[in-house]
Amino acid sequence: MNRLRIAIIGGTGDQGKGLALRWALAGHEIYIGSRDEERARAAAAEMEALLAKQPAGSVSPGSITGVGNAAAAASSSIVVVTVPFAAQIKTLKDIRDSLQSGALLVDVTVPLEPAVGGRPTRMLGVWAGSAAEQCAELAPPGVTVAAAFHNVAASLLAELDHPVDCDILVCANDKPARERVRPLVESIPGCRWLDGGVLANSRLVESWTAMLIGLNIRYKAHTGLRITGID
Ligand SMILES: NC(=O)c1ccc[n+]([C@@H]2O[C@H](COP(=O)([O-])OP(=O)(O)OC[C@H]3O[C@@H](n4cnc5c(N)ncnc54)[C@H](OP(=O)(O)O)[C@@H]3O)[C@@H](O)[C@H]2O)c1
Repeated sequence: MNRLRIAIIGGTGDQGKGLALRWALAGHEIYIGSRDEERARAAAAEMEALLAKQPAGSVSPGSITGVGNAAAAASSSIVVVTVPFAAQIKTLKDIRDSLQSGALLVDVTVPLEPAVGGRPTRMLGVWAGSAAEQCAELAPPGVTVAAAFHNVAASLLAELDHPVDCDILVCANDKPARERVRPLVESIPGCRWLDGGVLANSRLVESWTAMLIGLNIRYKAHTGLRITGID
């Protein structure tokens, strides 16, 4: 697999760190973004220390770097956004002028009720239709938006010695954009890329996360999602 350069905005959080670790293990070059450059550097150092404990030869040295969010956005042609819904609009406004022309912006945001003090098992209504469509409204011309990684739990990503038992539904308005996300999915052992269709379908995919969180609570489990019937 080709070595990719991937920026993760809000990469100091649970979901961003989990993705960063998995992608670094697959040999990709990761830029962790934060509002606070020092926090990003500390998170990158913490992750490098974890990767150093992995079996020899599985990691390219220096594959995780911590920088500010705007510098991360400027660093890579693939930019993944992992911030809470309450922070999504402000974050996108902060980075939009730094994005490379032709960049792929992968939105992972789930509009859950805790953004307004409510329950993680409930979704919020979003005027644009979904968090990903809101992201697309804020993306500058020439930047393509895809939605992915909503149904994979940070806790499963963090278990580096286990494959991640989850299908990843990828939504974007054209097939080439959905295909651009495929290597990110296939870099994570156990994850399967599935063509989720147009970006508006992220309304459904985002909402399944609330159901999975409810199942996690009721069954004291770490659930993922599998679609049957597709070889
Ligand atoms: N956690 C999961 O298992 C999971 C699974 C699927 C999808 N998701 C989605 O992925 C996104 C990130 O989840 P997470 O659990 O990683 O979130 P998180 O840990 O709460 O936050 C991620 C990062 O976002 C930044 N951030 C937090 N509050 C902010 C604010 N008010 N303004 C600007 N930046 C802020 C912080 O980075 P800095 O302080 O360093 O800037 C933080 O480290 C969410 O939309 C979530 O719904 C999460």
